[in-house]
Amino acid sequence: MNEISETLTIRQPDDWHVHFRDGAMLAAVAGLTARQFARAIVMPNLMPPVTSVAAASAYRERILAALPLGAHFTPLMTCYLTDEADADEVGRGFAEGAYAAVKYYPAHATTHSAQGVTAVGCVTKVFERMQEIGMPLLIHGEVTDPDVDIFDREAVFIERTLAPLLADFPALKVVLEHVTTADAVDFVRAQDGRLGATVTAHHLMINRNALLVGGIRPHLYCLPVAKRERHRLALRGATTSGEASFFLGTDSAPHALDAKETDCGCAGIFTAASALELYAGVFAEDGALDQLEAFASLNGPGFYGLPVNEQTVTLARRPWTVPDTVPVAGSQPVKPFLAGEIVDWRMVED
Ligand code: NCD
Ligand code: ZN
Repeated sequence: MNEISETLTIRQPDDWHVHFRDGAMLAAVAGLTARQFARAIVMPNLMPPVTSVAAASAYRERILAALPLGAHFTPLMTCYLTDEADADEVGRGFAEGAYAAVKYYPAHATTHSAQGVTAVGCVTKVFERMQEIGMPLLIHGEVTDPDVDIFDREAVFIERTLAPLLADFPALKVVLEHVTTADAVDFVRAQDGRLGATVTAHHLMINRNALLVGGIRPHLYCLPVAKRERHRLALRGATTSGEASFFLGTDSAPHALDAKETDCGCAGIFTAASALELYAGVFAEDGALDQLEAFASLNGPGFYGLPVNEQTVTLARRPWTVPDTVPVAGSQPVKPFLAGEIVDWRMVED
């Protein structure tokens, strides 16, 4: 490789799916995302969840206050959908710019989703309003039926819930979040751009063996759980080809060490310490660095109907070691994905 191909300058990317939490955890992680990304879609699964315009605006202020001095970063807030959600309140939040989207968690599908939606029938009015006003719906696509194997929950959700939902609300803009299966890739492609999908760095890098072979690895456990190798390869194919429906969403989900390394550990992988660099490594491995900008910086704004970022970032092949932990005031630290391991690509000053 010549020297020129060892660096890459692209429009600054955005993270279309991130968990910041609140309080000391927010203070510990927000700057890591702001170092790399110009904007991020911030998940609303706080305790209690962000279900009102006032709560979203207050949370947005807390995020801005937690950023390092001089950071240029815009949090895009989301509304946590419950069975009780009111279409007028949701619509008002979108009109005022307080909400960028609505997040739909099937009740009990994942971390902090207990107050999620129990059945699509409960939120019909909200979906009707959203399709009228062009407000995106972001979906955690897993069924919670105890009879469905955890590795099949995404594919079954697509068949049982998502396909009928898209048919019933033909103008609703939908993002299937953190896709993990070849089934999802095929389904997204078949919707001709009407359905977007975010892809995490970790699902591009690990399969389910990484969680379970040679010992159980709680820091590689997230939901949707990593699948077989053939699914990982399908995700990589869709992602590194730069296809417009697929865009960057880290699903970086920090949990304190003692919440992960315990008898019943929380779902969530924390990638914010190195996210863009991880994606760059994936694209470089597949000989597709020329598609990174589409995936990371163009496809997301294209789907959301937002302007692309004007500023740029530069990545260089400059191996560095991911820190063992990220400290959190007053609690145990967070352990980043690939803690203590070498990542080949690094963001450098432009
Ligand atoms: C997320 C979290 O910890 O909030 N966990 C995860 O495994 N991805 C919730 C989610 O996005 O499913
Ligand atoms: Zn998430």
